[in-house]
Amino acid sequence: MDYTDKIIDRLKKVEPLPTFSNIVGEVLNIIEDPLSSASDIAKHMDSSMVGEVLRIAGSAYFNTGGLRKISSIEHAIAMIGFEQLSNIILQMPFISLTDKKDKMFDSKAFFTHSTLCGAISKAISSATSLGNPNEAYISGIVHDVGIIVMYRHFEDEWRQIISLMEKENISRLDAETRIFNFDHGYLGGMLLDIWHVPKSITDGVKYHHCPKDAKENEENVAVTYLGNIFSNQIDLQGDMDSFVSFMMKHSGFADKITKFRNALTSTEEMNFFQTIFNAVKSAKVFLKGTENAED
Ligand SMILES: [Fe+2]
Ligand SMILES: [Fe+2]
Repeated sequence: MDYTDKIIDRLKKVEPLPTFSNIVGEVLNIIEDPLSSASDIAKHMDSSMVGEVLRIAGSAYFNTGGLRKISSIEHAIAMIGFEQLSNIILQMPFISLTDKKDKMFDSKAFFTHSTLCGAISKAISSATSLGNPNEAYISGIVHDVGIIVMYRHFEDEWRQIISLMEKENISRLDAETRIFNFDHGYLGGMLLDIWHVPKSITDGVKYHHCPKDAKENEENVAVTYLGNIFSNQIDLQGDMDSFVSFMMKHSGFADKITKFRNALTSTEEMNFFQTIFNAVKSAKVFLKGTENAED
């Protein structure tokens, strides 16, 4: 058995979620088809997902009427919207592997970063015509699941990575590559492959730190790569006051697109930043809602 087979063998032991590819398929359906109904997606949710969606939709932030308790899942979905519902059900299986009180792993920061990356990857895809916006949305949301998988299922390697970073003062990505021969993106993508998630999505996950290594689905990979970089630059508190200051602050980012397609015209560039600004703004509203939900 070679090294990669051994890793695959260990990944097969990761809490089996044979239904994850069904979830991804259903998510693609509902975000592609505005006519799909809440009950279609509700069929694919387990009780912990239903509980989480009810909890979030019941937060004062969404339940602006504040008088009626939200008790049906259909009502809850109507409150938070299909896109954010998809975000929750794609992230939950992974976030639930972590412990909220764990000081070693900041699951709230992870959820925020993944939410932003999904929203921004989708916005970049639609504003640049690179890749498929809905696939980019899913790749963006799950792009870093390899970090959780490493943390929970490769504990020895995780410890070796931390000590390498400290001893040799190298980045996490370099330390991961020294220990595994690849980074968390590739590990997460391997797991999603085992679960039969479509390759256009898993390639985005695998190569989000090294887009040049992708042999296929280069555009989806490019968008996930760009979405991750942009989402790391966003300051949700300071950046969102006005569109003009948002665009000024991030204007250099438009050059990164030229690695993957023609430079944006000035009209396209304006549309590009406007699309991202709007996406981040609604992600911020959603994140506020999840923070205010009661446990
Ligand atoms: Fe990453
Ligand atoms: Fe990331």
